[in-house]
Amino acid sequence: MGDHHQPIRALAADVMLAVENGQSLSQCLPPALNDLPPNDRPVLQALCYGTCRWFHRLDGELQTRLKKPLRKPDRIVHHLMLVALFQLRFSQHASYAILNESVEACRALDKPHLTGLVNGVLRAAEREGAPEPEDDAARYSHPAWMVEKLRHNWPEDWRNILEGNNAQAPMTLRVNALRFSRDAYLNLLQEAGIDATPTRLAPHGIQLARPVPVDRLPWFDDGAVSVQDEAAQLCTTILDLAPRQRVLDACAAPGGKTCAILEACGELAEVVAIDESADRLPRVQENLDRLDLQAILKQADAAAVDQWWDGQAFDRILLDVPCSASGVIRRHPDIKLLRRESDIVPLAAIQLGLLNAMWSILKPGGRLVYATCSVFPQENHRIIQRFRKQQDSAILVEPEVQWGRDMGAGRQLLPDPNSHDGFFYAVLEKPES
Ligand SMILES: C[S@@+](CC[C@H](N)C(=O)[O-])C[C@H]1O[C@@H](n2cnc3c(N)ncnc32)[C@H](O)[C@@H]1O
Repeated sequence: MGDHHQPIRALAADVMLAVENGQSLSQCLPPALNDLPPNDRPVLQALCYGTCRWFHRLDGELQTRLKKPLRKPDRIVHHLMLVALFQLRFSQHASYAILNESVEACRALDKPHLTGLVNGVLRAAEREGAPEPEDDAARYSHPAWMVEKLRHNWPEDWRNILEGNNAQAPMTLRVNALRFSRDAYLNLLQEAGIDATPTRLAPHGIQLARPVPVDRLPWFDDGAVSVQDEAAQLCTTILDLAPRQRVLDACAAPGGKTCAILEACGELAEVVAIDESADRLPRVQENLDRLDLQAILKQADAAAVDQWWDGQAFDRILLDVPCSASGVIRRHPDIKLLRRESDIVPLAAIQLGLLNAMWSILKPGGRLVYATCSVFPQENHRIIQRFRKQQDSAILVEPEVQWGRDMGAGRQLLPDPNSHDGFFYAVLEKPES
């Protein structure tokens, strides 16, 4: 740990406090990482991801160890202890070092009156070992409402889903089909000493045996490959893309699927990519630039069609709606802290509203693919069912694919510890006239 910096674990406690107050790791972690010398950055990242992942287990333990909760201004010390508990339970770090550094960090956080508490709690935790989890929320380390919802929605699979959410996700690439065949790129990886296999479901996907920094990937800067989960890649296999089509990607940022679409069919008439977030939309352009692809970008609420649409209907629409992200918790463990049960009904209303709006600008004979990275039926096949009650002419297409479960109105992929994230896709077509 560098002399001139905040101790890493003080920074980790700071990040955890920000997450508890509603910021995502992708918002609050990068500035904290920039405060550290490059060598220390992976340590901070691992502490924050791990503490989020195991928060609901560790927090239960910490609450029983504390005789009374800390005062609000001292809340950061609660997170400092959670970070230490995470290491005690889930790392090889020596326990005396965890204790000493935590006490030191408590001082660095300007809370000298709490060093005795930190020392006492962590000493007891070390001596007594981890308690038996009190319930499934602690056992699987998820908020209780999520455990209940998954148990209700997936009576056969809920335990696997919860356990899978706590495992490390693989790093998966999408080969830019305009540049390389998958086999050719697999050869390049082999020459570079990177262990990799083709994905089973996605035609251009490659799964790495171990994650590597992207700058180690051959020709990454020149657009040879992108990092994208296998389930996310599947969108192009059901869009039925063909030359001269006008394609809309209605919720596009950061552009993973926009770029996949452009790579999958080189002669599209145009691709329009919309996102309402001014912060996220530039990421789409960065990805397009690296891959040397072109799309028309617009910052807008896709549903407010009169504010951005030129009146020409689209042949293909990808609607990758904002959702609970309950299918990607293994990659974004902060979702466990950020998401509330009360988010789901308003999200479903937004999803159905977007679907109706996009339907109105789809060409007769055109195809719309609805996608989420959720495992909650409320955001998935129930949206499609509700939509079809309102638009009874909409044709539900059964894609001929080998993946996912048929939900009667779309296909659900549950997260697979050995490969893809949790995802949902439904394919709808508008009658010719
Ligand atoms: C699931 S993410 C999209 C991921 C993207 N399709 C990809 O594959 O990289 C959903 C996106 O929808 C955007 N969004 C949310 N509500 C929107 C709206 N009403 N109109 C347009 N974009 C919206 C969010 O800013 C977010 O970037």
